[in-house]
Amino acid sequence: MNVYEIRGGRRLTGECGVQGSKNSALPILACALLCGGEAVIRNCPVLTDVEATANILRHLGCRVRREAHVVTVDSAVIGADDIPDALMREMRSSVIFLGAILARNGRASLSTPGGCEIGLRPIDLHLDAMRKLGAEVREEFGRIVCEAPKGLTGAKIPLSFPSVGATENIMIAASCAKGVTQIVNAAREPEISDLADFLNSCGARIAGAGEGSITVEGVARLHPTEHTVIPDRIAAATYMAAAAVTGGRVRLNSIIPAHLGPEIGVFEEAGCKIETDCRSIRITGPERLRSVKLIRTMPYPGFPTDIQAPVAAMLTVADGASVIIETIFENRFKYIGELVRFGAKIRVDGRMAVIDGVKTIYGANVVTPDLRGGAALMIAGLAAEGVTRVSDSRHIERGYEAPETVLRGLSAEIKRIAEDGKTDPEPPTETERR
Ligand code: EPZ
Repeated sequence: MNVYEIRGGRRLTGECGVQGSKNSALPILACALLCGGEAVIRNCPVLTDVEATANILRHLGCRVRREAHVVTVDSAVIGADDIPDALMREMRSSVIFLGAILARNGRASLSTPGGCEIGLRPIDLHLDAMRKLGAEVREEFGRIVCEAPKGLTGAKIPLSFPSVGATENIMIAASCAKGVTQIVNAAREPEISDLADFLNSCGARIAGAGEGSITVEGVARLHPTEHTVIPDRIAAATYMAAAAVTGGRVRLNSIIPAHLGPEIGVFEEAGCKIETDCRSIRITGPERLRSVKLIRTMPYPGFPTDIQAPVAAMLTVADGASVIIETIFENRFKYIGELVRFGAKIRVDGRMAVIDGVKTIYGANVVTPDLRGGAALMIAGLAAEGVTRVSDSRHIERGYEAPETVLRGLSAEIKRIAEDGKTDPEPPTETERR
């Protein structure tokens, strides 16, 4: 089991780049299946979730190769229309392949994704949308089979919730459907706009991405393209929380500040100084953070659920009580049981967490419950007096590229102790990122 060992109490200083967006790269890689040739995806982060996605593409018949942060997917020849259970279990968000496989093959079969650490993660909105596009959907023996032998037909699809994944699956499936599709109450996350940009550069005709209503005019086929993935706003906000909690001063480069609106407001309310220009953010943490009265997670452009845990960790040492309400996922406070081991004072009641800030927290041995909860534990370790060991780091490596290298570059005292006792592998250099 890999472990991050952190000696806390050091201010983070300096500057760093931010990885490409995991939640943008995954759907873009999935829909490269529709390009029928070599698609080149740049600024693709080095993550286990990206590798899992590449393995599914290879299973489907694509040739996939990576040179540092550039991934090339050749989907000229496809030989399968299913995702085996083992590959689905590697990454439940593989459901994002549904629209692409169905649009490419007229048939898609995958095992029911099931839940994960943060919730049941139903996919009813995805399946209802595929039915509206004309597919027959069967759920049997733990597998989902979607069939549309005559192709898909555009439809008006109102979503009862602005689901990110369902919006993505609909955009991808509808891109080559006959006629026009309108998604009502669509998700508005920046990753949706990045996916639409990729699809449009492949010849799709998508309008309105980033707004509540998206229109997709189906085309006969898509063609290969080159695309650079947007920066990861969640990773950026995570490192901002790390800088803030240590009273540090850090500049994050190659990001899009406009993607972090609500988070910047929370950091400022907590007493941080924020300076932005078009591609970077500098954050300066105060001697002691102030509490934040209320954080309520919401679909974009509200405060993102993925940043709830890292910010909660930061607020454990703030002056006063902070309240967080998690409205998106039903089980996203699991990390709090581990935060309490640092001496944090947190009460949880259903979807609400009340954090009574303390002056000092102390290093502890903790276990990562999920991806963003793991990031929260690392942030607590940076603030804690003494040594923290965050074990089961595989969750963290799903979504953060070499966090120990990024944090060490900002003066943190951290090392990754791999299972075989080796120290950290060196990630590709910044110049390779482009
Ligand atoms: C995406 O998950 C992200 N994952 C999540 O990031 C993120 O937290 C989430 O969007 C919300 O922003 C990827 O992009 C790979 P949803 P997704 O569909 O698409 C309910 C991370 O840490 N729902 O918007 O699964 C669902 O139960 C991950 O990087 C249905 O009820 O999110 C949840 O309550 C975690 N039926 C809510 O909608 C459906 O068919 C949000 O889900 C689909 C969703």
